[in-house]
Amino acid sequence: MALTGLFLITFLVVHAGVNAMIFWNDGGVTFNMVAHFFGTNIFIRTMEIVLFLGLIAHVVDGLMLWRQNRAARPVKYAMEKGSASRSWYSASMGILGTLILLFLIVHLWHFWVKSRGIVGSLDELPLDPEGQENLFALMVQTFENPIVVVIYVLGCFSLFWHLLHGFKSAFQSLGLNHKRYNPIIAAFGVVFSIIVPTLFALMPVSMYFGWIQ
Ligand code: HEM
Repeated sequence: MALTGLFLITFLVVHAGVNAMIFWNDGGVTFNMVAHFFGTNIFIRTMEIVLFLGLIAHVVDGLMLWRQNRAARPVKYAMEKGSASRSWYSASMGILGTLILLFLIVHLWHFWVKSRGIVGSLDELPLDPEGQENLFALMVQTFENPIVVVIYVLGCFSLFWHLLHGFKSAFQSLGLNHKRYNPIIAAFGVVFSIIVPTLFALMPVSMYFGWIQ
């Protein structure tokens, strides 16, 4: 779980970085250029397969862990001590993970399925002046719908909670903990868990309100 989790975290950094190009507010010129490079680069396209395998492994591992935990204690505690024994988000990793998975299905349907021509025709995609697929215009179109924007913000919120626990827990599972460095890892984890999902959430929100055009 820890290794696949850290791998998915590196994907998030790249994904957020590429998407953040929309904040240049230049009509998507820079973003489309970078997205086109990533979409056509053979190394990145190969990594896309590794990414999906990593994602599946992370979900399967998570389900196995959840089953193991249940099997270890078939009879529930008479009294749950709640946050005294485990923090709320630690206990809810499964629920949050499931919410992120649901968000991902909706998200891939909006962008990936369309941009890869898996469903529908590539001819239906908006094009930029150079005749290349205009992912920026697809984003603007997608985030015209307020319900979609709310789903994305909730997805980002689930990601925030999931990362908040997952980040430091990954280091612990790998045995990478040391009295001196633990506070630094924990602090970095908190900052990361806030910055990345906030950056993502700002994308649909700023497009919906027309701050980015
Ligand atoms: C909220 C703002 C987000 C926006 C605007 C956004 C936008 C996009 C776009 C445009 C693509 C298609 C890229 C292409 O076809 O070349 C994509 C793909 C993808 N996104 Fe996002 N994304 C967001 C958040 C997220 C989050 C939070 C996750 C993960 C938890 C995520 C996971 C993915 C995955 C797995 C793919 C497919 C893999 C790939 O194309 O390489 N996205 N996203």
